[in-house]
Amino acid sequence: MKVLGIYGSPRKGGNSDQVLDLVLEGAAKAGADIERVYVRQLDVAGCLECGACNDTGECAVKDDMQAVYDQLDQADVIVVGSPIFFYGPPSQLKALIDRSQAHWSRRMLQKSPAQRKTYDSGIGYLVAVGATKGQNLFEGTKLTAKYFFDALDMEFGDGLHFRGLEGPDAVASNPEIHRQAREFGRRIVIGK
Ligand SMILES: Cc1cc2nc3c(=O)[nH]c(=O)nc-3n(C[C@H](O)[C@H](O)[C@H](O)COP(=O)(O)O)c2cc1C
Repeated sequence: MKVLGIYGSPRKGGNSDQVLDLVLEGAAKAGADIERVYVRQLDVAGCLECGACNDTGECAVKDDMQAVYDQLDQADVIVVGSPIFFYGPPSQLKALIDRSQAHWSRRMLQKSPAQRKTYDSGIGYLVAVGATKGQNLFEGTKLTAKYFFDALDMEFGDGLHFRGLEGPDAVASNPEIHRQAREFGRRIVIGK
């Protein structure tokens, strides 16, 4: 099983990085092949809404996203790690997500409405962290993740969400998060 981790934070080694590292550690221990994408290292422009992908299923913008498209295609499981920025994902990650419009177009061109209901390209999860404790803290980002995975023809399996994390040591000093993240990584490989 190929598991792709998408590190969405601009802060290297921050809270979502640390939680995603632990999730992927658990998945690797359970036998998965792990690949990692660090969004902050990529040059990915936002979607131009140029419409080229409506006809071809391919994105006309030639930047680092072209390599990411192949990685998205090859993954059986994708885990997106994201901090909450203004109740959504950071803009760098959102640019990558918006560019999956090309996958959405390709899916519309290649699959019938009935085929699109089966989500047979795998399953995606969101690992999100935020500083506050608001009840709806993860709702915006969860919806964005759900429709990102929909564009990729993948089921959305929800994921792990941690509130009250702000400083860069917030994860390191919390053994319960370590336990839950590793266990989550194991479960996405072996099932519940
Ligand atoms: C631009 C920006 C916007 C943020 N917006 C929110 C927010 O709306 N709600 C919240 O709880 N935390 C917010 N935060 C705090 C981060 O979500 C929090 O510090 C998180 O742990 C950072 O994760 P990271 O270390 O993986 O980047 C924001 C931080 C920044 C820099």
